[in-house]
Amino acid sequence: MGGFKLFSHKGTTKSPAMAGDLGNEKMKFEVIINAIEDGVMLIDLEHTIQLFNPGASRITGWKVEDAAGVDVSAVIKLVDSKNQPYSDDQNPLMKVFKTGQSVRDNNAYLTNRSGKQIPVSVNVSPLVDNATVSAVVAVFRDVGEERAEEQRRADFISTASHEMRTPVAAIEGYLALALNAKVATIDNRARDYLEKAHSSTQHLGQLFQDLLTSAKAEDGRLSSHPVVVELGAFLEQLSNDLKFAAEKKGLFAEFVIGSSHNIDASQGGERVVRPLYYAFVDGDRMREVVTNLFDNAVKYTESGKVSIGLTGDDKVVQFYVRDTGPGIPAEDVPHLFQKFYRVDNSATRTIGGTGLGLFICRKIVELYDGRIWVESEVGKGSSFFINFPRLNAKQAADKQAQEAGNAELQPINSLASS
Ligand SMILES: Nc1ncnc2c1ncn2[C@@H]1O[C@H](COP(=O)(O)OP(=O)(O)OP(=O)(O)O)[C@@H](O)[C@H]1O
Ligand SMILES: [Mg+2]
Repeated sequence: MGGFKLFSHKGTTKSPAMAGDLGNEKMKFEVIINAIEDGVMLIDLEHTIQLFNPGASRITGWKVEDAAGVDVSAVIKLVDSKNQPYSDDQNPLMKVFKTGQSVRDNNAYLTNRSGKQIPVSVNVSPLVDNATVSAVVAVFRDVGEERAEEQRRADFISTASHEMRTPVAAIEGYLALALNAKVATIDNRARDYLEKAHSSTQHLGQLFQDLLTSAKAEDGRLSSHPVVVELGAFLEQLSNDLKFAAEKKGLFAEFVIGSSHNIDASQGGERVVRPLYYAFVDGDRMREVVTNLFDNAVKYTESGKVSIGLTGDDKVVQFYVRDTGPGIPAEDVPHLFQKFYRVDNSATRTIGGTGLGLFICRKIVELYDGRIWVESEVGKGSSFFINFPRLNAKQAADKQAQEAGNAELQPINSLASS
């Protein structure tokens, strides 16, 4: 680009022809700054705007001459996606003054002079003089078009997967009927074909479901009805339901609970009192998470064992899904919970999958202030851990009483409103 050549560092510092020609340099500088479509601002230590280009004027609605010399907080009003004004700790400009490090924020909205919200990406860099920040340069870009495009893409995925689930469910239903000996008569070869068609259809249905869930998770529309769940009983039941899939593949499946071995002598004989692990989560969503992890463990493990375990201390409930499978290389671990990420190896090339399972798990776990991570050793196996805040017995009882109260209130409310 011509502009870049004009303002190269070589030209400003070394070229003898340019030396001393400050007027010319200043003109070029202005031409470039004025031509940049992004909003560019220079802000001094008193937070006063020292330079404000026409790009900044377009985005903020402030005239260049009006903004110059004004406190930046009057001109740059940033809010988050929920329309909450940024605190000083969130504000990239203030962060740079405080830390002296460059900051980028791609999710901000700027309230312009006429009160309209404009999606912006903000990049703020410090100008450092003798190891102290002397001013900051802020670059603002209007990303309305990009965000609208992202939204359209997400909407398309969720509409398409939603619409396609219905016919797939119908096909699956009819295939199940055809396979039901009480309803239809088919020969063995047809049965074999239909069984294959049935399992592929189930797979397709699951894929649409995953696409839909991940699209919803991305824009925060994942439905969730958290209640108090005792994870011990919950996981034991779920492990029972899941273990057949492992045993079918010749893997040993187990459920391990707690580490505490209190002995309750009053019951006569020795009895292990099992600790109760309460958490505030949505049971259906939890089932989805554990099923995804367990499916992975079974899918990627050739031989050995798959365990579901539960432990915790007084603050956290921790559960894990552990396998004796191939393990995950360290360089893949940081990307594992991203959308569509699959480890590239011969196993994943032959074993089907979309790379959505772990992304969905992370999104769900984060709904309940939880954390998910993996510890793995190549050739030995992997353990996926999840931590949730633990409720003690009293907190659990209080919340349950509250839930019961809400449930009782509901009919009264609906009577009143009908
Ligand atoms: N227990 C495991 N052992 C080894 N590798 C695993 C294990 N779990 C996950 N992985 C790796 O992580 C990748 C991402 O897992 P994820 O569940 O997100 O996707 P997927 O299983 O490939 O597809 P799907 O969307 O059907 O779940 C997998 O492709 C696999 O390479
Ligand atoms: Mg998976």
